[in-house]
Amino acid sequence: MFGKFSRRHFSKLAGLSALGMAAQPAAVTAQTATDRHAPASFPKDFVWGTATSAYQIEGAVNEDGRGRSIWDTFTHTPGKIEDRSTGDRANEHYVRYKEDIGLIRDLGARAYRFSIAWPRVFPEGRGAPNPKGLDFYDRLIDELLRNGVEPYATLYHWDLPQALEDRVGGWRSSETSKAFGDYAGYVARRISDRVKSIFTINEAGRFVNFGYGWGVDAPGLKLPDAEVNQVRHHVALAHGLAVQAIRAQGRAGTKVGPAENLATCVPVFDTPEHVRAAEIATRELNSGFLGVILEGKYTDGFLQYAGKDAPKFTADELKIISSPNDFVGLNIYAPQFYIAASDKAPGWSILPLPTSFPHMNSEWLKIGPEVIYWAPRLAAKVWNIETIYISENGTSAEDKVHADGRIYDLDRIMYLRNYLRQLQRATAEGVPVRGYFLWSLMDNFEWIFGYEKRFGLYHVDFETQRRTAKLSAAFYRDVVARNAIGV
Ligand code: NOJ
Repeated sequence: MFGKFSRRHFSKLAGLSALGMAAQPAAVTAQTATDRHAPASFPKDFVWGTATSAYQIEGAVNEDGRGRSIWDTFTHTPGKIEDRSTGDRANEHYVRYKEDIGLIRDLGARAYRFSIAWPRVFPEGRGAPNPKGLDFYDRLIDELLRNGVEPYATLYHWDLPQALEDRVGGWRSSETSKAFGDYAGYVARRISDRVKSIFTINEAGRFVNFGYGWGVDAPGLKLPDAEVNQVRHHVALAHGLAVQAIRAQGRAGTKVGPAENLATCVPVFDTPEHVRAAEIATRELNSGFLGVILEGKYTDGFLQYAGKDAPKFTADELKIISSPNDFVGLNIYAPQFYIAASDKAPGWSILPLPTSFPHMNSEWLKIGPEVIYWAPRLAAKVWNIETIYISENGTSAEDKVHADGRIYDLDRIMYLRNYLRQLQRATAEGVPVRGYFLWSLMDNFEWIFGYEKRFGLYHVDFETQRRTAKLSAAFYRDVVARNAIGV
């Protein structure tokens, strides 16, 4: 019935236009439309990239002396991963990296954010380095540079050496922070001749709570609040030690900063009172990691809220933690908190999120393009940040392969088109966002969801390892080529 109706309907429209009788008012001609609309450009030298991480793509978990990580242990524990998969094979990127760099080149994106697996470099987490540990990354970096792609390395994307978990309790101990600092210095010595920007720690905001508080991610612990806060403090300390080690041992001028999924706040609407409230909320809700790194202290609000569970720390540690960064990476996917000004202390409140709030194919991934405008704007204001990268943004989608072999991921294009519009708005207003890394280059191991959630611009058939560009790859290639969104 609908099909019949729409066929008739459209042939009628087609007939009209064939007669030169456009359904639009005559005034809107192609010429005036061009005059009124213009592409929204990003700043000159804006960095366009894609991102991945070691455990999610490399595979080769037993190659060349790699030690075990907490994610090897976790994925091999029954009941932890939805589709019962592991990263043992993943995208076989360890051997297919040249082909994958070809995919990056084809996008025209000139930057790539990857992570280095700590247990490849120090199989025991500390002590003797694996002589072959960085060889793969040397090859990867050289190949990227040969292809005109700037490498951005992340030192910690969740694959903690299992030996540290076993011997010192992982992030429960500041021994792990020290080991991370040593690892960072070692890596910087070796790669900073070619890698100019290093992200220290990826998404403390997730792995601390999920891994140590709620038992959802590796290492699967459910610690009391006081210990979780201490874990977060040790991670912040690790970041600071890494910044210092990179400055001491890397080439002069090496840029360094975190890649954090800050708690994102959006003012409920754009009025000065709500915006101010969202600024205060951004500061308070992120005090436990980004805040302490950028301010050198926990806010009174944070300490009061934590009460007897507040982390224990020394003045010296705070100094290390707040070693100056060159940039701040923000991973931004979804609005988390809509904030309203309030008459009651502390002057702001979090509004309840309706259950009907729309989301993408991942339930947590709420659709709120304005978050990629507000999060960097608020962060830049609150902490006076001069250089921000969107170190991750993207979405999962169903990504069914059609009969013609193509993947028409219109939902991902819808998401990206809207988010990038808002990002352009931010840059046009002077928010200091210098680059954007789309998550992800290709489908990969999505942690507890295994291979069921696909985030890539390239589809991966995990049986054959065949990579196929989705329609969104063409969309992104166009944005990158024009350095603009819209026409
Ligand atoms: C954040 C993480 O850094 C990345 O590993 C993950 O795959 C994406 N978000 C999507 O969930």
